[in-house]
Amino acid sequence: MRQSTLLMSAELHTYMTAHSVQPDAVQERLARQTRRFAEVAHWQTAPEQSPFLTMLVQTLGVHKAVEVGTFTGMSALAIARGLQPGGTLLCCDVDDTWTPLARQAWQDAGVEDRIELRIAPALETLRLLPNTADVDFSFVDAEKTGYWDYFNELVVRTRPGGLLVFDNVFRKGRVLHPSSEVDDAIIEFNKRLAGDDRVDVVMLPIADGMTIARRKP
Ligand SMILES: C[S@@+](CC[C@H](N)C(=O)[O-])C[C@H]1O[C@@H](n2cnc3c(N)ncnc32)[C@H](O)[C@@H]1O
Repeated sequence: MRQSTLLMSAELHTYMTAHSVQPDAVQERLARQTRRFAEVAHWQTAPEQSPFLTMLVQTLGVHKAVEVGTFTGMSALAIARGLQPGGTLLCCDVDDTWTPLARQAWQDAGVEDRIELRIAPALETLRLLPNTADVDFSFVDAEKTGYWDYFNELVVRTRPGGLLVFDNVFRKGRVLHPSSEVDDAIIEFNKRLAGDDRVDVVMLPIADGMTIARRKP
């Protein structure tokens, strides 16, 4: 066995984030506000994910993006900031308890005009999208049992070369020692995705594991 990825200590995590793009005032405030929702604050994407998402979206030249699982809007903010001029982000969430914070942050950051938020089960929203294979980028971070269905709806709408990104694919390491049906669902998702011949798949040790799937030409 070769292990070349370092296990992440808290100290190394601090070092890593200190040497990356720093959050601005809007992101800092949103992180602070979200921490007040103690029971669900951990849903927010990790600090190292925001600059990574923005850079991915910028590098890919994204015009059309979709997010599944918006919460208080941190990942959407990161994606929206990386869009090409005139680009759009469709955000899907089933619950509008936390989205007012998202809308405020998007407004403060000046990206609200690029974002459409639809409150409904994401699968319904995705199924209503045209089958035109013109989505450049998707980020999936909603309920884990839905990942395979989200992938299937999104992949046919993704242009060749477009990316689909899935968060929490490690389940904090429980993909090796599952202890719930949700863990089992992600194990099954990871297995199916790795074997799907419509995409090339890279699983990365960022935060709780992020998979990037690229739609094959
Ligand atoms: C982990 S949070 C998303 C965090 C977000 N990406 C961020 O950066 O803060 C998951 C979100 O998925 C939403 N969700 C759960 N089930 C859903 C469904 N069936 N359709 C749409 N959204 C759903 C929840 O309401 C919650 O806001």
